[in-house]
Amino acid sequence: MEAKNAGFDQKDFRNALGCFGTGVTVITTRDQDGKHYGVTASSFNSVSLDPPLILWSQGKAAPSHGAFKENSNFVVNVLSANQADISNQFARPSDNKFQGLDCTYTEDGIAILPGTSGHFECVTQNMIEGGDHIIFLAKVVNYRHHADTSPLFFWKGQYITP
Ligand SMILES: Cc1cc2nc3c(=O)[nH]c(=O)nc-3n(C[C@H](O)[C@H](O)[C@H](O)COP(=O)(O)O)c2cc1C
Repeated sequence: MEAKNAGFDQKDFRNALGCFGTGVTVITTRDQDGKHYGVTASSFNSVSLDPPLILWSQGKAAPSHGAFKENSNFVVNVLSANQADISNQFARPSDNKFQGLDCTYTEDGIAILPGTSGHFECVTQNMIEGGDHIIFLAKVVNYRHHADTSPLFFWKGQYITP
């Protein structure tokens, strides 16, 4: 498709953005009452090594958005190649997204998913307006990674496994 000017067709613009392949994460937090939240997100990216900073962005209309604005602590769980089901589980609103998952927890009580390629424990430093999304710029305070695990990829609206 050729480039267009202002007033983009939303579906076509989304398809164009989908040409950029990404990994897939589930980002978790909890609210003051201890309720757990998790969202599938491909907008995760590295920002800075020193200080260690990452970012992700979330649609303002997402039901879980309030929880991520209130609690600065969150975990980025990087999904592995066999976790497309988990990605789908966290990509739609539900009250029991964590059902069947044997999670561990950070000191702040944020869920760490099992079987991932790695995870980053983060603290939000800045929330930046980004149109219909908010960009969370966050400091990494702890992390783990498993070098022998293949990641899950997402490209043109489909999961790609290596
Ligand atoms: C592969 C994939 C990547 C996604 N990436 C994002 C993202 O980066 N930011 C976002 O706000 N939503 C993203 N979504 C959509 C959310 O996962 C979805 O809106 C989810 O329902 C949000 O959780 P909630 O309804 O509990 O708030 C993505 C969905 C998929 C399948």
